[in-house]
Amino acid sequence: MSSLQSAALSRVKPSATLAVTAQARALKAEGRDVIGLGAGEPDFDTPENVKAAAIDAIRRGETKYTDADGMPELKKAVSAKFKRENGLDYDISQIHVAPGGKTVIYNALVATLSPGDEVIVPAPYWVSYPDMVLLAGGEPVRVVGHEADGFKLKPDVLEAAITARTKWIILNSPSNPTGAAYTRAELEALAAVLRRHPQVWVLTDDMYEHLIYGDFEYTGGPKPLIDLMRKVAGQTTSNPSSISQWAAVEALNGPQDFIPERGKAFEARRDLVVSMLNQASGIRCATPEGAFYVYPSIEGLIGKTTDAGVVIADDEVFTAELLAAEGVAVVQGAAFGLSPYFRISYATSDAVLEEACTRIQRFCASLR
Ligand SMILES: Cc1ncc(COP(=O)(O)O)c(C=O)c1O
Repeated sequence: MSSLQSAALSRVKPSATLAVTAQARALKAEGRDVIGLGAGEPDFDTPENVKAAAIDAIRRGETKYTDADGMPELKKAVSAKFKRENGLDYDISQIHVAPGGKTVIYNALVATLSPGDEVIVPAPYWVSYPDMVLLAGGEPVRVVGHEADGFKLKPDVLEAAITARTKWIILNSPSNPTGAAYTRAELEALAAVLRRHPQVWVLTDDMYEHLIYGDFEYTGGPKPLIDLMRKVAGQTTSNPSSISQWAAVEALNGPQDFIPERGKAFEARRDLVVSMLNQASGIRCATPEGAFYVYPSIEGLIGKTTDAGVVIADDEVFTAELLAAEGVAVVQGAAFGLSPYFRISYATSDAVLEEACTRIQRFCASLR
């Protein structure tokens, strides 16, 4: 009998971060005391003016179809944001709005990849990139940014990975899962390589651009593939929810002061988590420049044994045993393409983070 699953989907793994979150939720439902640091979802509430804009849109009856890739009012707000914050001139014909970051990236890949096309994905990478490339029919090419280089891609590594089949490179700064942010000079060095290979398109995922601590700068590049992406959206999602789009207009055009306020809170949380993790025996945690993730190494724990007699062979065993022993849910580095590490999302309260790090310290101290 032929398989129900398509050939394209059979190449794809389920999302590891969603799996950890679901596991933590299931344990909580059983009554276990579980702290979930798996999902990258801030604990802060949506600002009141943004909530009100969504409610007003419903009251005005703005609940109908919009253009497939976003309504003109929102594209204008996005264009104004690019000008105001990034000094970039984007016409609204160069802007694509989708229901989420995932959909934007997937639309770009589906619109452009043919079988055999390669996409360079620097590891540690956000879990979904390689699988989205596979689903779109392309071939992910993993290159590594090592901890000693701040988990960043070096120009010679990029140069060596480019072939005649390379269609895209995906750059994500600040990074999920490491929080690493490229400096202008580092990006210029990568750009110098890419200029020698004009067939390679650059997909910059700047999801965490407002969460950069200290003095870091970066930029993204406009590309005229928006017409192709609109064609994909027109035959798949139709359009992002009109209510969300009106909320987004208000979020972009309304007061922005909550962004630096929240940024400060995240920076303090980063410092708390990095300091407490570095006090856990066998863990080494670099200080990231942005986002709300840390990516500690467990190199010093490999080969040790838990109280239950389990040998910590790799980061998957470590995260499973940490959850079993102390009820702390984190994601194994294997999911992000570089071991032996794990990822913590610190987008939660100081009290929760302190308790989670105390439990991690206790777990590490119990290993023999
Ligand atoms: C780097 C990166 N890109 C894209 C996304 C997807 O965003 P969305 O939830 O809007 O689809 C995420 C979400 O975790 C992310 O971390």
